[in-house]
Amino acid sequence: MTGTGASRLGGLPGFDSGIDVIGDVAVVKLRPGVEGRESALAEAIMAEMKSVKCVYGQEGGIEGEFRLRRLRHLGGEARTTTTHKENGIRLRLDVETCYFSPRLSTERLRIASRVREGEKVLNMFAGVGPYSVLIAKKAPVWSCELNAAAYRFHVENNRLNKVERRVTMVEGDAALLPEKTAGEGPFDRILMPHPSQSNAFLPAAASMLAPGGVVHYYRHVTGEDEGEAEARLREEVAALAPRLSVVAVRRVRVVGPRYVELVADIEA
Ligand SMILES: C[S@@+](CC[C@H](N)C(=O)[O-])C[C@H]1O[C@@H](n2cnc3c(N)ncnc32)[C@H](O)[C@@H]1O
Repeated sequence: MTGTGASRLGGLPGFDSGIDVIGDVAVVKLRPGVEGRESALAEAIMAEMKSVKCVYGQEGGIEGEFRLRRLRHLGGEARTTTTHKENGIRLRLDVETCYFSPRLSTERLRIASRVREGEKVLNMFAGVGPYSVLIAKKAPVWSCELNAAAYRFHVENNRLNKVERRVTMVEGDAALLPEKTAGEGPFDRILMPHPSQSNAFLPAAASMLAPGGVVHYYRHVTGEDEGEAEARLREEVAALAPRLSVVAVRRVRVVGPRYVELVADIEA
């Protein structure tokens, strides 16, 4: 669970403790049994979490190329745009038209803490900017995003956090980055936080990596256990980027039964 104080909500039918609090918007994963009790659930959440002003139910998973949630208004204000604070930055976003997960804030801080001054950083799948804005406090960042709504919020977030001069925005398909950034790279650190589809872009990332540089390659992987999942990930990298080496693999989170999100650090 993300956020605080939902402990007394667990007994409500249709509520399985999966709740994300993004700014003042709570997003609850809906389960069978909630029908007819949605507004009671919304009232209980707002009573328990005083900062929450809008409650939405999420139907299904996070889907499609833009990784979006299907939302249903359950209670409070009917508004999906909010301002979320994490790691000392502020992020404006629309939880319906942009991908954002508050569960990854520690991972973002971990990556940002590894960035050294003077590095050139490329984020191929930037969303509304939670990695890029944080990293831009230390190093120049090139930030790419295909979803026009997320791109617009990223531009706004650069200004909000006073890093607009440190972030070069690239709107469109990350597959075109080798052409679009020709003359600006190569990059010392490349982020690929798009775990459902990053494999399709790994050869492009490899072509933009500086000698001694590192790619943070996020992937959803299945396996009977984590050892098997890691072995699959290593095989995939060897096939897609044979000239690079995996130097570390870590679990970011458990996605489902026998299904994990891993990040491989891959060096030139
Ligand atoms: C899992 S989200 C991660 C966003 C952000 N890094 C974060 O942590 O919030 C993946 C992002 O990649 C974007 N995306 C999907 N396909 C893309 C492509 N071909 N080129 C650039 N961005 C893409 C999606 O719109 C989405 O914002």
